[in-house]
Amino acid sequence: MLNWDDPLAGLTTRPTPAAKAAFTLDFESAAEPAPMPAAPASEPSLDSVALPDAAAGATGLENIEMGARRIQVDDKKIINCRADLNQLVPFKYHWAWQKYLDACANHWMPQEINMNADIALWKSADGLTEDERTIIKRNLGFFSTADSLVANNLVLAVYRHITNPECRQYLLRQAFEEALHTHAYQYVVESLGLDEGEVFNMYRELPAVARKAEWALPFTQYLSDPHFKTGTVENDQRLLRELIAFYVIFEGIFFYVGFTQILSMGRRNKMTGTAEQFQYIMRDESMHMNFGIDVINQIKVENPHLWSEGFKGEMIRMIREAVEIETQYAYDTMPRGILGLNAPMFKEYLEFIANRRCAQIGLPEQYPGVSNPFPWMSEVLDLKKEKNFFETRVTEYQTGGALSWD
Ligand SMILES: [Fe+2]
Ligand SMILES: [Fe+2]
Repeated sequence: MLNWDDPLAGLTTRPTPAAKAAFTLDFESAAEPAPMPAAPASEPSLDSVALPDAAAGATGLENIEMGARRIQVDDKKIINCRADLNQLVPFKYHWAWQKYLDACANHWMPQEINMNADIALWKSADGLTEDERTIIKRNLGFFSTADSLVANNLVLAVYRHITNPECRQYLLRQAFEEALHTHAYQYVVESLGLDEGEVFNMYRELPAVARKAEWALPFTQYLSDPHFKTGTVENDQRLLRELIAFYVIFEGIFFYVGFTQILSMGRRNKMTGTAEQFQYIMRDESMHMNFGIDVINQIKVENPHLWSEGFKGEMIRMIREAVEIETQYAYDTMPRGILGLNAPMFKEYLEFIANRRCAQIGLPEQYPGVSNPFPWMSEVLDLKKEKNFFETRVTEYQTGGALSWD
């Protein structure tokens, strides 16, 4: 029971006298609350302030409506849904829930991966060429901040506008995975004893690294504006454009030169710990992109008027521009051939990927006749096939037989 003479009695950590004085003051003023003035009838009620515009979707933070009709599956929509967002079930989008379960089954932690061989190689005088060191550092520079950017975009821009609980459940898992990825890059930087200031500042000091983040930022900045609301054609298209920019382009194109470069080193038995970190990250990223593509396609199904000819043309131009930016990244990070790779091969690879991305969201193929110069990349994604790719570690997080490592 509260001791009215000493409200702090029983607390093991007692505040300083100054803090206690402040507490007592607050406590005393709360004991005699000033009467609440009645709101004039003309002012908006708390309810109308808390609720979003009729056109926009719910947030999940609205006042509880006691005794309201129970949620039906058909009430659910990916965007602009007004149904209660705090009720996960009944499921409408089983693919979203399944991706959440799959992501949880693939759980991993960066510090479980042995970095000893990488540390020895990095510190040996002739273990790596200068070109190889440049590739490693620039990719750590790009990815270490890119994953924080993706996480911030998810939490501060995308999440608010996706009005479906099972999709939000996946977004929460994705946000944690982005944190794990930033953790993994930091862990590699720390393990190798790199200059963390140099690596983490690359995206505002090196144009080759900065360009991709600079390209993506305007999309998320628009959506993270607290005044931005979906519910009009223009704003719903802005959301769709942003989802394509981040899921299809940023995670689906801008990551792939770096992934290929580092994984290629791993295949040649160089920087195998770093490559294994990248392998796990790429598996997660592939799922993020596929989730994003499912969301984009579902929004198209539910809002076909958004997918106009003009909008499609704009998305094609965006994807083609992204291929050019990422090709430039390949040239900037490897001006000379290395590890049997060269920048023109990356150009073809990116065009091959872009064709796939276009097909996945229902756009026409843009680069006819290109083939995949790195077929092993798709095998790396399928860890079941690549069972001996690296010396893999224990997989105690595996549950439900989602992955087989034997
Ligand atoms: Fe990530
Ligand atoms: Fe991601």
